[in-house]
Amino acid sequence: MQQERSNFTNKLGFVLAAAGSAVGLGNIWRFPYLAAKYGGGTFLLIYLILAVTFGFSLMIAEIAIGRKTGLSAIGAFQSLDKRFGFLGILASAVPIIIFPYYSVIGGWVLKYFAVFISGNMTTSAADDYFPSFISGAFEPLGWFALFLGATAIIVLFGVEKGIEKVSKILMPLLVVLTLFVAVYGLTIDGAMDGLAYYLKPHMADVSAKTILAAMGQLFYSMSLAMGIMITYGSYMKKDNNLESSVRQIEIFDTGVAFLAGLMIIPAVFAFSGGDRSQLSAGPGLMFMTLPKVFNSMKFGGVVGTLFFILVFFAALTSAISLMETIVSIFMDKLHWQRRGTCIFVFVLALIMGIPSSLGFGPLSFISWMGMSVLDIMDFVSNSVLMPIVAFFTCIFVGFILKPKTVADEVKEGGAKFGAEKMFTVVIKWIAPIFLVLILASSIASALGLFTI
Ligand code: TRP
Repeated sequence: MQQERSNFTNKLGFVLAAAGSAVGLGNIWRFPYLAAKYGGGTFLLIYLILAVTFGFSLMIAEIAIGRKTGLSAIGAFQSLDKRFGFLGILASAVPIIIFPYYSVIGGWVLKYFAVFISGNMTTSAADDYFPSFISGAFEPLGWFALFLGATAIIVLFGVEKGIEKVSKILMPLLVVLTLFVAVYGLTIDGAMDGLAYYLKPHMADVSAKTILAAMGQLFYSMSLAMGIMITYGSYMKKDNNLESSVRQIEIFDTGVAFLAGLMIIPAVFAFSGGDRSQLSAGPGLMFMTLPKVFNSMKFGGVVGTLFFILVFFAALTSAISLMETIVSIFMDKLHWQRRGTCIFVFVLALIMGIPSSLGFGPLSFISWMGMSVLDIMDFVSNSVLMPIVAFFTCIFVGFILKPKTVADEVKEGGAKFGAEKMFTVVIKWIAPIFLVLILASSIASALGLFTI
């Protein structure tokens, strides 16, 4: 049963909508802590190289598949080749894993917004504030439930359009504020060492782990390897230029991530007095660093409040789009009613998110290779499932559908496909071989066969 699809009216509308889904906690929360942990400039360089080759090719392929078939992931792969139906299902598992822990972090953002608006910034800038917050049980759970509940209510009552309109105004504001905080942060004593760390690659640091982390981040941040861009593509008009849209989404998404890193990493150096152990703080990095930056700033309370509310909106729009995706997967597959499906997805995410939320406190005894429950969820989706989905997508496009089919779709309406050669080589050979190597080495190291 294929309904008539409404289209984005113009190219800018498409780019903004796709960028709206892409820009979220991945850029502001996740990118900086990975870059800090995996060698700063080394990570940044690997990320950029992967973005213009891998990320570009995969996004072109996904959007083209969506626009060609007019279907979302499960239907799209199935309609092109029955044997690849499993790929749509595998891709659909990704948002189901991501959404619950995404809401846990959304809850942390809400918490910090509340702290700042109630004038408790100085308390939150203390070293032990964040660790004592997340090691609690009920507080993080409460904020998680609140964030998830807000998302669910918006999706249930179908008022996403209103939120999206608001966030179209707030998002540019977030970018400007991030730039402002970054520039301010660079003036703090000691920040320059951090800037050097963030920008200068050290080839000796390059490892399979770093590459895998950068690749997982690329998928996560650009909402790739989970069927999302296929869905967006299905709404794209034939006469919109696909290649230049992809370039713009990539530049925007990478730009925001770069700025967020610039805001956080030099500040880590400035406030740690040369102690580099903070760099591997992981998911808490932004929450430990930024209150210190705001606290040292004139009117920091106001700036911080504004910052956290803007990040909240960025997180909310991504969470809405994640939940929408999951709801439509269940509705399409099981022919459920929308209302019941929304409630089901809410309860499912609540149950799945609880261990992630408690993983730093009451459930901190659960750990695998030094990772907490939240990190394990993150690892399974970004470093295992997404590379697998990406691998099969490359095989599918490279050898079954053929790169030419995608290229023809890109060239619809007389458009040029400037990077066609690179796309063909990357999707057919470089990406799949590379993905297998990276996956194999990470599995081997996870099993303790050797350390990388
Ligand atoms: N890309 C989003 C971010 O950077 C996160 C995300 C992953 C997402 N998959 C998604 C958002 C699907 C919307 C839909 O935060």
